[in-house]
Amino acid sequence: VVMLNLTSTEKYAKVAPVHETIEAFEAGLDSDHELISPAMKYLYAACKLGIPHCNFTPSLSKVPALEKLAEKCGVPLCGEDGKTGQTLLKTVLAPSFAVRQLAVEGWYSTNILGNNDGKVLDDPESNKTKIVSKQSVLDDILGYKVPDHQVHIHYYRPRGDQKEAWDNIDLVGFIGERMQLKVNFLCKDSILAAPVALDAVRLLDLAKRVGESGIQREFSLFFKSPYHTNGERPEHDLFKQNSMLQAWIDKLGRKSREVSPIRKAAGA
Ligand SMILES: NC(=O)c1ccc[n+]([C@@H]2O[C@H](COP(=O)([O-])OP(=O)(O)OC[C@H]3O[C@@H](n4cnc5c(N)ncnc54)[C@H](O)[C@@H]3O)[C@@H](O)[C@H]2O)c1
Repeated sequence: VVMLNLTSTEKYAKVAPVHETIEAFEAGLDSDHELISPAMKYLYAACKLGIPHCNFTPSLSKVPALEKLAEKCGVPLCGEDGKTGQTLLKTVLAPSFAVRQLAVEGWYSTNILGNNDGKVLDDPESNKTKIVSKQSVLDDILGYKVPDHQVHIHYYRPRGDQKEAWDNIDLVGFIGERMQLKVNFLCKDSILAAPVALDAVRLLDLAKRVGESGIQREFSLFFKSPYHTNGERPEHDLFKQNSMLQAWIDKLGRKSREVSPIRKAAGA
C-alpha cells in the first residue's frame, strides 16, 4: 500500500514550532492545534502505518517532525506538487538558456483552467500556496534571481480540464540584444498528471521493498518543489533530475533483485 495525497490545495502555511519535533507535533494533534493541517495528518497516519507517502499537492505536509517520524518508521517520502505542464516546460527551457548564456530578464506565466482544482485555486490562500510552488524553479536552475518572474492562475469555467498555459520570456543575448519567446501549451491537466502520480507510487513501493526511508530526493523529476534534506539545494533541472532517477532505478533494481524472496528461494 502507498498513500498518495491528491486532495485540494490547502491554504498557504509555513513551518511553526508545533511542527518542529515529534513530541510537539503529537501534543498539537491531541489539542487539535489549528496549524496541523489535514495534509499533515495524512502523512502522520502513513508514518504510523509504515506506508510510503507521496504528496502530489503543493500543501505543506513534510514538516521537520514528520520527516523525523518517517525515518524512524522506515517510511519513504516524496513530493511535492506534481510537475506536469507549464513548470515541466520551464525546467526544460531554463537549462538551455543557462547553457547558451542567454540572460532571462523576465518570465511571465499565466494559466487558465476550469476544473475543480481551478475553482479551489481561485481562493487567494490556496492560490498563494500554488504560486509559491510554481515560482520556486527558475532561480536555482539559472544561478541568479530573475528580475521579473510572474506566475498567474485564473479559473475560467468553459475550459474544464483543458488547461491553457501561456508563457512570455524576455531574453538578453550577445551585445545586449533583446529577444522574446512565447510558449502556448494547450494541455489536459489530468492526462498529464495521472501517469506521473502512478510512476511515483510504483517507485515508492519499490523503495519500501528495498528498505529505503525518508526523503527520496531522486524522485525530484516528478515535482515542482522537490523534497530535499536540510542543507541540500533542490534540483529543478529536468535533465539532471532524470539522470538522478535513472541512477536510482539502476541501483534499487539491483538491490530489489538481491532481496527478492522468490529469487532467494530459487538460489538466484
Ligand atoms: N495536473 C494536475 O492535475 C495537477 C498537477 C500538480 C498538482 N496537482 C494537485 O493535485 C491536487 C488534486 O488535483 P485535482 O485536479 O484532482 O483536484 P480536484 O479538485 O478534482 O480533487 C480534489 C479532491 O480532494 C477532495 N478533498 C479536499 N480536501 C480533502 C481532504 N482533507 N481529505 C480528503 N479529500 C479531500 C475534494 O473533495 C476533491 O474531491 C491539487 O492539490 C492540485 O493542485 C494537480
